[in-house]
Amino acid sequence: MPSPRSRQALLIIGATSDIGRELALKLGAGRPVILAARRPQACAGLANELLEIGASAVHTLSFEATDLAGHRELVEHANTLAPIEVAVVAFGILGDTARSESDEAHVAEIATVDYTAQISMLTVLADVMETGTLVCFSSIAGWRARRANYVYGSTKAGLDAFAQGLADRLHGSKLRVIIARPGFVIGSMTQGMKPAPMSVYPGDVAEAIVQAMSKKRGSATLWIPGRLRILAWIMRLVPRAIWRHMPR
Ligand SMILES: NC(=O)c1ccc[n+]([C@@H]2O[C@H](COP(=O)([O-])OP(=O)(O)OC[C@H]3O[C@@H](n4cnc5c(N)ncnc54)[C@H](OP(=O)(O)O)[C@@H]3O)[C@@H](O)[C@H]2O)c1
Repeated sequence: MPSPRSRQALLIIGATSDIGRELALKLGAGRPVILAARRPQACAGLANELLEIGASAVHTLSFEATDLAGHRELVEHANTLAPIEVAVVAFGILGDTARSESDEAHVAEIATVDYTAQISMLTVLADVMETGTLVCFSSIAGWRARRANYVYGSTKAGLDAFAQGLADRLHGSKLRVIIARPGFVIGSMTQGMKPAPMSVYPGDVAEAIVQAMSKKRGSATLWIPGRLRILAWIMRLVPRAIWRHMPR
């Protein structure tokens, strides 16, 4: 008889994400995995790797974050393929800082992908999933806005606030929210940028989330790496006159 886990799915939304990929490989063995991506054809390699490590099935779905009306259909469809146990909301864009200073359409695009689509998707997931884990991505960028990425940072601040409230709403239920707050992650999103202090790799982010999922029963907010928490509190104390000159 198959174990319960072998029927419960891992859903990665934004499956071509570096961090999403690492989480898929760490959590995908022995269960169905559903990969949702705007370039589903780019998921073929990951799908093969997942089958090799023992995923019981891999399904690939097409997903466009800005199609807000399509979010519920995607999640409900995924849930009919296999009941969703873990959902990872991994899509996002950093945006182009220089462009965002004068291009309001680009600012709106960043806000839509990194805030509106995130809270839309989390709302649908919390409504459709009866039990399990929601994983979403805040960032140190949302902790205190910086001139270098204030549009992205503002979306992360809003998303973090939303996710904290969602976690409190779900407290005592069978659903929990893992809110990851990574610092600088060396990967596709930060390609070409000089790594900041305490940089990590996508695998480190995934590992911290997996550890928290196995240790804690309820919702959790994770600074990644953990010692980033200290830097974050110092960041709040830096006078504005100095802060506004931060290069990044
Ligand atoms: N990297 C960092 O330094 C860092 C730090 C803190 C937090 N985070 C957050 O962690 C999460 C994952 O980041 P990552 O580093 O894994 O990002 P990534 O490797 O750059 O991947 C981003 C993902 O979002 C997808 N995406 C972008 N726009 C989309 C749209 N309109 N519709 C559907 N999918 C879309 C991309 O699809 P394509 O492959 O088709 O472009 C890709 O799958 C994000 O929320 C990010 O903001 C990242």
